[in-house]
Amino acid sequence: MSVVTTGNLVDQLIGFEVHNSAFETMIRSLPVPVIDGFGPGSNGGVPQFIDQGDRVGPVAKSDIDVQFPKISAETAGRVLSVVPSSDSVRGRRLAVLFSGGPAAGGHNVVAGIRRVLGESNTLFGVKAGPKGLMNGDCFEIGLSDVDSILNTGGFDFLGSDRTKIKSESDFQAVLDTVKRYQLDGIIVVGGDDSNTNAAFLAEFLADHRCAVIGVPKTIDGDLQVGSLVPISFGFDTATKIYSEMVGNILQDTPSSRKYWHFIKLMGRSASHVALEVALQTHPAVTLISEEIAQKKWSLSDVVNQIAGAVVDRSKHGFNYGVVLVPEGVIEFIPEIKVLIRALNDSVATHHDMLETMPLTERVAVITGSLQSDMQRLFLSLPEGIQRQLVMDRDSHGNLQVSQIPSEELFVELTKRRVAEIDPTVKFSPLNHFLGYEGRCGAPTRFDAIYTYNLGLVAGALALRGRSGYMAGITDIFSGGRGVAIPLTSLITSERRSGSTAMVIEKALVNLESPAFKFFEKRRLEWVKSDRFSSPGPRQYWGETSRQAPLSVALNQSAKGLLFEIGSDA
Ligand code: FBP
Repeated sequence: MSVVTTGNLVDQLIGFEVHNSAFETMIRSLPVPVIDGFGPGSNGGVPQFIDQGDRVGPVAKSDIDVQFPKISAETAGRVLSVVPSSDSVRGRRLAVLFSGGPAAGGHNVVAGIRRVLGESNTLFGVKAGPKGLMNGDCFEIGLSDVDSILNTGGFDFLGSDRTKIKSESDFQAVLDTVKRYQLDGIIVVGGDDSNTNAAFLAEFLADHRCAVIGVPKTIDGDLQVGSLVPISFGFDTATKIYSEMVGNILQDTPSSRKYWHFIKLMGRSASHVALEVALQTHPAVTLISEEIAQKKWSLSDVVNQIAGAVVDRSKHGFNYGVVLVPEGVIEFIPEIKVLIRALNDSVATHHDMLETMPLTERVAVITGSLQSDMQRLFLSLPEGIQRQLVMDRDSHGNLQVSQIPSEELFVELTKRRVAEIDPTVKFSPLNHFLGYEGRCGAPTRFDAIYTYNLGLVAGALALRGRSGYMAGITDIFSGGRGVAIPLTSLITSERRSGSTAMVIEKALVNLESPAFKFFEKRRLEWVKSDRFSSPGPRQYWGETSRQAPLSVALNQSAKGLLFEIGSDA
C-alpha cells in the first residue's frame, strides 16, 4: 500500500493532516486476527456463553451478595467461555463509553463491538464518558465509521471523563438515557473504578432489561485477574513507549557520562509499569512500591539505597545512571501512607470549607488538623509535595499521584545523603516524568489485537443479554479464548475519602510473582555495571511485533515472548 498521495509535495503534505500521516495510514490497514467463535469457522452467529469450569480465586463475599443481589444471583460467581453459535441476534441497541484515562486500543474495542453487532443491531457511542451517559449525549456509530479508527491511538472518537455515577439522581439520569435510546446494553470501557461503576449500574439496571458489561482498560496494569485477564489493555503500548524513551536516556548516560536521571513513570498506585520498563531496559535502580511497603522501608531506607548506588557506581567510574520511580511510590512508604490516610480524612472532613480556599491557606488548615507527629512529617516534605498532598482527590477518592513530583523528592533527598556519605562524589541529577505521552500512542499489535477481541466478547455478551460481567481474553500465548468474569467476584471493601467503599481490588505487584523474582535476581548486576538495553520503537511488522509484555509472559509461564491471539478473519 502506498502512503504517497497524488499531486505535488505541498499537496502530499496537506494530505497527511487529520490522522493521515504515513504511519497512521499504514497501521490502519493492518489486519486484526479474531479468536474462535467470531472467525470464519464460527457458525456465523453470535456466540453463546457457557460455564467451562474456570473460576476466580476464593474471595469472602457475604456483603457482596447484599449489595448486588440481582447480578450476584444471575452470575453466581461463574466464569463463562465463548462457544460458537449459528443463532443470530437482531434489533438490539447498545451503547459504549470510555471511562477514566485514555489507553491505547480503546478504538479497537469499539471496532470489535461494531463488528459483532453487524447490520441488524445498533451501536451508540457515548460522548465524554460517564458524564455523557448521564446527559444522554450519544451518537450512532455506523459500520463504516470503524474504518477510520481501527488500530489508532487515543480515545478521541468518543472522549472520556472520570465522573463517578454515585447519587440516586445520577442513576436516574442514566436510566433516562437508557429509556431515551431504548438501550438493551451498555459497555463500559474502564479501569478498576469504572468497572466498579459498571457493577453498580448492572445491579441498578437489572430491572430495566439493560445489560452492563465492563472491559478491562488501564495503562497502569492493575486490573488483572490471574490468567483470565492477564493484563489490562493499554499497558503494553504505554510500557513500550516508556521503554523506548528510558532506553534512549540510558544510552545517553555513558555517552555524556555526567547525569543521574530520575524518571517517574505513570502507573498510579501499582508498580507494574516501572517493573515492565525495568525488565525491558535494565537501569541501575528501580523502586518497586509494593516491595517498599512489604519490607516496611522508611523514606530514609529508600534514599540510602539510591545514594548507596550512586556512591558505589562512582567508585567504579560510573558517575551516571538511571533511577525509575513508580508514580504512586510515596503512598507506599509506611510513614507517608499513614500521613496520607490522615490527610484524606482531613480533606474529606473539611471539604466544603477547603473548596474555595487558595492552596497556601488549605495547607495551613490541614496542617493544623494533624496530630503533632504527622504535622512534623508533613512539614519536613518539600513545599511542592505538601501542596499536592492537600489537593482534591478525584471523584473516586484517589489521590492524584501523577501531580506529585516524587522524582524531585528523591533527587533532593539523594543529593543531601550522597554529600553526607562522600562529599567528593559528583552527583548531577536530572528529573523527568513519563506519563501522558504513553497513553495515546497507536496501539502495539498486542493491544490492537487484544482489544478488538475484547470488543467482540463484550458486544456478544451484551447482545446475549448477559449482565454484570467483565469481558476477558485468556490463553493469550496459545490462540486466545473469550471469557466473561462476574464483576462481583472482583469486588472487595477499601477505605476511600475517609470511609469504606465497595471497589474492585487493584492488582498490585506480587513479590512472589515470576516477574518480580526475575527482576530481583538480576537487579544487582544492573547496578554494578552497565547492562542496559535500548529496545527502540514499537514494531508493527514481522516477528518482533508479536512480543507480549515481558512481565506478562513471565507471570503467565509462557514458553516464549510471542503472544498468539486469534487467526486471520
Ligand atoms: P485510569 O486508571 O483511568 O486508566 O488512568 C490511568 C492514569 O493514566 C494513571 O496512570 C494516572 O495516575 C492518571 O490516569 C492520571 O489521570 P488524569 O488523566 O486525570 O491526569
